Amino acid sequence: MHKIMFVCLGNICRSPMAEYLFKDMVKKAGREKEFDVASSAVSSENVWNGVGAPVYGHTKALLNNLGISCDDKRAQVLTKEDGEYYDLILCMDDSNVRRAKNIVGTSNADKCKKLLSYANDSGDVADPWYTRDFQAAYKDIMRGLEGLLNSMD
Ligand code: 4NP
Repeated sequence: MHKIMFVCLGNICRSPMAEYLFKDMVKKAGREKEFDVASSAVSSENVWNGVGAPVYGHTKALLNNLGISCDDKRAQVLTKEDGEYYDLILCMDDSNVRRAKNIVGTSNADKCKKLLSYANDSGDVADPWYTRDFQAAYKDIMRGLEGLLNSMD
């Protein structure tokens, strides 16, 4: 079983997009049973009194247009225990990687890398919360996810 945690700043745009696109991709490849996939945030901005925000409207619409539902998703913060459980903690940008390493601690820091490293790209998935370009985030995330799935044959 490959245990994969996608991570971004708020867990309402990029990492839920990666989580649900990857779940869809592995399902279409008939490989659902091989993966345990989740997503989380390095900040607690979108969790109030333990209750996480739903996926942001533009991300939800993008997924819905592809026939993918994310209605059950609520934002959650990455924990030290997640660092023990998951094999890979795939982050959207350098800042996420730094903060994720801080959360999981030195023993699991090597699990934290950027998603685009699987597309042989040292760049970041730009945050659509700020750029408003959800299509650009989608294209970057898909490149990373395709490389990730191919690396797990
Ligand atoms: P995400 O985008 O990290 O891709 O989920 C953001 C969502 C919310 C905020 C920042 C980035 N925020 O400041 O609330």
